[in-house]
Amino acid sequence: MITLRKLTKSFGPRVLWRDLDLTVEPGRMLALVGASGSGKTTLLNCMGLLERPTSGQVLFQGTDLSSLGPARQRRFRRDHLGYLFQDYALIENATVRANLDVARRRGARPPGRAEALARVGLAGREQERVHHLSGGEQQRVALARLIVKRPALVLADEPTGALDSDNAAMVVDTLRQLSREGCAVVIATHDPAVRDACDSTRALEARGRPEGLGRA
Ligand SMILES: Nc1ncnc2c1ncn2[C@@H]1O[C@H](COP(=O)(O)OP(=O)(O)O)[C@@H](O)[C@H]1O
Ligand SMILES: [Mg+2]
Repeated sequence: MITLRKLTKSFGPRVLWRDLDLTVEPGRMLALVGASGSGKTTLLNCMGLLERPTSGQVLFQGTDLSSLGPARQRRFRRDHLGYLFQDYALIENATVRANLDVARRRGARPPGRAEALARVGLAGREQERVHHLSGGEQQRVALARLIVKRPALVLADEPTGALDSDNAAMVVDTLRQLSREGCAVVIATHDPAVRDACDSTRALEARGRPEGLGRA
């Protein structure tokens, strides 16, 4: 379970969000919505320890992650965190198989590559190079990588932003399966279908732009 406690992020004088409290339990999916520029990506990055909040705490299973040293932060990312991006973030010049192998943890016994690829409709495609795959197929590889890794927390940043509706549905279905298996999932999204597939929604306000105010 991940909990944000009184989390604030500013860039200079500009406050993105202030005193944000939020909890995502295992098995739950949270949609993070809000106008472009409202700080969705920055919030995911603070949860994934890629950026530091200005103040407040990020608690994972009771530990304040921001108080950990760099080595333990890396271990948290390696062992517990999965990321899914709009632009897939795969190793382009490598095979499907190599992209899945970077996620495999030593000693862990997750579903194998073959099973993960079958679950996303890419059975038998291990040897293909990623740059030969379509966008939808590349996002399926990124999903298979999450299935192999089995992270406790998945952070997805506009994961359907570049996909057609069939591939978008595959993303949502796979994230739902991961959550059923006990994963906590947070999805920043503009897509109403993705938002509606989540268990709850948190809207970030666009600050300093009156026309963008409002909560979903
Ligand atoms: N490193 C940074 N320095 C200054 N401003 C930043 C930085 N990173 C993001 N921002 C600003 O913070 C705001 C929120 O960005 P972002 O989190 O990407 O929003 P969203 O994902 O909701 O579109 C934007 O106005 C962006 O320009
Ligand atoms: Mg963003």
